Amino acid sequence: MGGKFLIRTFGCQMNEYDSQRMADALAASDGLERTDRPEEADVIVFNTCSVREKAQEKVFADLGRIHHLKRANPALVVAVGGCVASQEGAAIVARAPYVDVVFGPQTLHRLPELIQRRRRSGEAQIDISFPEIEKFDHLPAPRVAGVSAFVSIMEGCSKYCSFCVVPYTRGPEVSRFFEDVVVEVADLASQGVREVTLLGQNVNAWRGEIDGAPADFAALLAYVAEIEGIERVRYTTSHPREFTQRLIDAHRDLPQLAAHVHLPVQSGSDRMLAAMKRGYTALEYRSIARRLRAARPGISLSSDFIVGFPGESEADFEATLALVREVGFDDSFSFVYSPRPGTPAAELADTLPHEAKRARLQRLQAAIEAQAGAIRAAKVGRVERVLVERPSKKNPEELSGRTSSNHVVNFRGDAQLIGCFVEVRIDAARAHTLRGILENDDGLVRAA
Ligand code: SAM
Ligand code: F3S
Repeated sequence: MGGKFLIRTFGCQMNEYDSQRMADALAASDGLERTDRPEEADVIVFNTCSVREKAQEKVFADLGRIHHLKRANPALVVAVGGCVASQEGAAIVARAPYVDVVFGPQTLHRLPELIQRRRRSGEAQIDISFPEIEKFDHLPAPRVAGVSAFVSIMEGCSKYCSFCVVPYTRGPEVSRFFEDVVVEVADLASQGVREVTLLGQNVNAWRGEIDGAPADFAALLAYVAEIEGIERVRYTTSHPREFTQRLIDAHRDLPQLAAHVHLPVQSGSDRMLAAMKRGYTALEYRSIARRLRAARPGISLSSDFIVGFPGESEADFEATLALVREVGFDDSFSFVYSPRPGTPAAELADTLPHEAKRARLQRLQAAIEAQAGAIRAAKVGRVERVLVERPSKKNPEELSGRTSSNHVVNFRGDAQLIGCFVEVRIDAARAHTLRGILENDDGLVRAA
């Protein structure tokens, strides 16, 4: 059929991954090409996020901004997917009647069909179900762009933290089959991918069957690490509740496993953790961090935090600061609590003024940043193994890559090094990145 599509992505890495799958599906079934220019698009897709109120409101503001394109070209198809679509459904069309298609994270494989049905019938199409079928069976194999790729290993979340919409918008935890994950990783490796990030809301909730026996996430990691061509394996996000000793041991036993774990803690106060229904105590979290550091010395840890959860006292907040000081996080995401309609926490009395929450967020971010800065500074003088990903964004004569600990490193080098692992001597720490010099002076020798 031809034509062009544009996808605008909001939110997490899961959404980035889903957008890529939507792009693959549109290219495969309708022969559409991707564009970055809204005015030349025949299909505009918004892949939305509802995890916080601001993200959700931004979707409607941005939708408003393309309304004039639809007025000028009534054949333009506007589709809204992701978590706002899942939560709001038909209410999106009621609020923005120029929206043609509404689809959820579990029905994104049906996007081409929904667009066709909209064109044939002239009626808005809404499908936000959680179909039983494996959506991956209906998606084309992922196309490779670069040396690092994401592979979804499980969908949804069944943890029901009291503040979070994800279990409602993405449905319950469903693991992909072991064979399907391994075939997808092997296929990516054969196309030149050297690093995979296994993706899911709680990857360590993955369960499957390997050779007829029940298997857990640690077992899956061991198989993925052995796939020829894959030299580095990451995963995100994991949950402290199912962070087993077997998984900790995997960090000791599998050299391919990156020296970085993103492990959301949310708070350092047991009272808050219980109110959030996180299912662990601050002591249990500290114990995981301690055992991870023993298993893999130098491992870098990052986390997610929520400040200003209903009922959070100054003492609760101080407990979070104490945990930050003790664990030594490298980078983290921290947010002011945002009540989400339909979640149990939205019913709780929320009395702390917004300014007080903002002040706590600033204190927390300053503490984390001071720590992360010290960790980056301590890398100066050391040689790091870097997977070269792309030309640097700021200076096209420089290259940009990542260390095993997930630090971005910029350095001078030949573009032919993209896709290779190289050794880089770190010579400076910047605000969020590191700078370095290639160890091999001919600039083209691959590191072992
Ligand atoms: N699966 C992950 C985990 O184990 O916690 C988190 C997924 S959630 C989409 C990403 C982060 O958004 C959470 O870790 C939390 O810090 C934040 N978040 C979720 N709901 C929130 C809310 N209502 N207000 C503020 N932040 C929120
Ligand atoms: Fe949300 Fe908690 Fe799941 S933060 S994604 S309900 S683990």
